[in-house]
Amino acid sequence: MRVLGIETSCDETSVAVLDGDGRVLSNVVSSQMEAHARYGGVVPEVAARAHLESLPAALELALAKAQTRLEDVGLVAATAGPGLIGALLVGLSAGKALAFARGIPVVGVNHLEGHLFSAFLRGNGAEPYEVRYPFHGLVVSGGHAELVRVEEDRIVPIARTRDDAPGEAFDKIGRRAGLGYPGGPVIDRVAARGRGDRYPFPVGRAGDGSRDFSFSGLKTAMLRELERRRVDGRPLEPETLDADLVDLMASFQRAIVTSLASRVDEVHGAEGIRVLALSGGVAANSELRSTLAAWGDSAGVPVFLPERAFTTDNAAMIAFAGLRRFRRHGAQDPSEAQARSRWPLGS
Ligand code: KG4
Ligand code: ZN
Repeated sequence: MRVLGIETSCDETSVAVLDGDGRVLSNVVSSQMEAHARYGGVVPEVAARAHLESLPAALELALAKAQTRLEDVGLVAATAGPGLIGALLVGLSAGKALAFARGIPVVGVNHLEGHLFSAFLRGNGAEPYEVRYPFHGLVVSGGHAELVRVEEDRIVPIARTRDDAPGEAFDKIGRRAGLGYPGGPVIDRVAARGRGDRYPFPVGRAGDGSRDFSFSGLKTAMLRELERRRVDGRPLEPETLDADLVDLMASFQRAIVTSLASRVDEVHGAEGIRVLALSGGVAANSELRSTLAAWGDSAGVPVFLPERAFTTDNAAMIAFAGLRRFRRHGAQDPSEAQARSRWPLGS
């Protein structure tokens, strides 16, 4: 059996084909980055139109790369939320139409659940790692920071961000520093040359005794530092940034990484983490990866880091999560698979 995955929740149009064991046979991602770069962020209307334009070619290419005919597909998994409603509708409607035309089941997948399981996927058609329950998942992206415990039949939320998501903070600072959009990958590269301990920023937390994250205080402190240096968004070359700005970027990244890693350690102390799975666009961050890997070594906890292709939005993770959901709950009535802009994990 083949699973067809479709992801259109934000700014990547992606179609993937997996086999029934979760091997990724193809994972085509068509980025709209350029369409949004001149606005400095994702414009919902532009995103929806771009998905409409890119989806047919992405579908054709994904099937061809997987040497799969539409007739071989036995299950369609499409992202149903959370995300931009117009963008979600494009992929979900296409998925439902395909399933209806072929008389096969369709599942609407939670995008965050897709990210959660992405750390277990492997490239080059290899069999995925075995998912062991319970595991703790940390999803960090442009829209989310969520720490959850994933049990066999439910997802228990532990901490989430109260304000900005870490990727959002990276993107806002990147834009204000004139480093372009998205800011995460550029700041990651710049920070590698800097001293992360030069400017100790406060490590954000919600401040009411809960475990929630908060990144807006850090973002404001950072914006003030940029202002003091008269950095105002005019384009700067990442390769020729002065040493002080490089250290500032490294310190900003260090604060985000420390905030995430210290919360993981705290939760480990409280309830014991058996396995940690990192995911989401910010899971591509080099310092976050190395910090959590080192933490896992010292705490004796296996840490799964997603391959880079599966960190940012992709349909392979949607197909994988959809397959798990289908195995557990069976087919969904197509009318149940509704697009939802909000869809908290565990609900
Ligand atoms: O998961 P994703 O593709 O989309 C959302 O669902 O939000 O994540 C995109 C986010 C962007 O904010 C981007 O700046 C961030 O992931 N990102 C990174 C890195 N690569 C991508 N952040 C930090 N370091 C990176 N290397
Ligand atoms: Zn995402």
